[in-house]
Amino acid sequence: MNYVLGIDVGTSGTRAVVAGREGEIVSSATCEHVPFASPKIGWAEQDPQDWYQATGSAIRQAISAARINSSDISAVGLAGQMHGAVLLDESDRVLRPALIWCDQRTQAQCEWLDAKLGERRIIELTCNPALTNFTLTKLLWVRDNEPEIWKRFRRLLLPKDYVRFRLTGEHAMDVAEASGTLMLDVANRRWSEEMMSAVGLPMSCLPKLYESPEVCGRISEAGANHTGLKVGTQVVAGAGDQAGGAVGMGIVRSGAVSATIGTSGVVFAATDSPAMDTKGRVHTFCHAVPGRWHVMGVTQAAGLSFRWFRDLLRGTSSSVSYDDLTREAASVPPGSDGVLWAPYLMGERTPHLDPYARGTLTGLAASHTRAHVTRAILEGVAFSLRDTFSLFDEMRVPVRNIRLGGGGARSPLWRQIQADVYGHEVEILAAEEGAAYGAALLAGVGAKFWNSVDEACDAVVQVQQHVPPDPTAVKILAIQYEKFRKLYPALRPLFA
Ligand code: XUL
Repeated sequence: MNYVLGIDVGTSGTRAVVAGREGEIVSSATCEHVPFASPKIGWAEQDPQDWYQATGSAIRQAISAARINSSDISAVGLAGQMHGAVLLDESDRVLRPALIWCDQRTQAQCEWLDAKLGERRIIELTCNPALTNFTLTKLLWVRDNEPEIWKRFRRLLLPKDYVRFRLTGEHAMDVAEASGTLMLDVANRRWSEEMMSAVGLPMSCLPKLYESPEVCGRISEAGANHTGLKVGTQVVAGAGDQAGGAVGMGIVRSGAVSATIGTSGVVFAATDSPAMDTKGRVHTFCHAVPGRWHVMGVTQAAGLSFRWFRDLLRGTSSSVSYDDLTREAASVPPGSDGVLWAPYLMGERTPHLDPYARGTLTGLAASHTRAHVTRAILEGVAFSLRDTFSLFDEMRVPVRNIRLGGGGARSPLWRQIQADVYGHEVEILAAEEGAAYGAALLAGVGAKFWNSVDEACDAVVQVQQHVPPDPTAVKILAIQYEKFRKLYPALRPLFA
């Protein structure tokens, strides 16, 4: 058996990647999801059945494009959007649409948790503060607001773990994913009984925990019929998309840092022990590497800022593309002639932890053009990611190499902007296939293609290009960043 398969159950689609014994990518396929429903401002829901359908199609397409026999696939790994709550009843039926990671409705539940346990105690137990993104707050919202559904609730899964359940019949989760639930004792890599009993939830609703490369199930007959995979193919635990993506980029040892711009934007550093910010402004989670942790800051609307702007313009010209916009923006000087974008379209996590923050464009004059606004958006997202680097400095988290991922790595302009805003060389990888690729590498470790996650990354991850910062742009953007940092405190009274 010479291949492994990685799956990433994302927000906008599910991606499947087939990789060979040397880590080479043989094929990939993506199937879109129905866009998330937002029945009220700040709400975000998806139907778990949609993820399962997209997974089936993506796997079938990837296997067929690879021109291999599915019996040649040794193991499958899963990654996925984190934090979302899939609530199941006694018979493992889905009780309601999942409240996904960017849903912001649970501020009252966060306040209840803070009042009941105290902010310090929550951080002591879970290494993280109560945030609207974290799964526990979503469960508490259902308990508070939908008593009929709550009565029937028996078991919790997260998005990719629900897909795993449908593929294997197992209720399982990896510790990297579980870290984003606010129910894990992150320092000790086990569910926190103290947290569960303090909030009055039974341990029985939680799935069994594994380390990411561990085999935790096998493809069932139903799973095989749905995907074309062979019955009995081993499935490893995998990871949430951030830790999974980090494995795919070789961010596994202390000093290695990634800046990934997808829908959200994440600056992620691997650490040897749980590194914590006393104010909880970055997340401290278990890594997908057994015995290691990671720390990350999250910008809620990174790629989403750019997509929002493009879609806004599409109302006037249906042909406008990301490439058109970045081409225009490249002619505007660093600093966007004073235009500034704060990307808080979906509230903000790092560093403000404020679900009520809102996006804002400022510094506009009549002479500014669409190109200025585009460049300001790309810079504003990079400023927001830089906020995490500033916190890493405060926390003394070492930053030796910065590797770029996602859409921010594909656009030459956005790469250069990031190097200039971070004031640090950035690295572009030869193959950047996101979390699905990391999941495939974890499957490869489970299948013994490699002895460890480190060995897998050392063998397969290659840097293709180094982008140095431009000293003149660094100076201009450092001044602009100082102005950016003043925006949120000044505008906060308007958001509340
Ligand atoms: C990470 C996070 C997002 C989602 C969506 O904390 O919320 O990256 O996992 O992909």
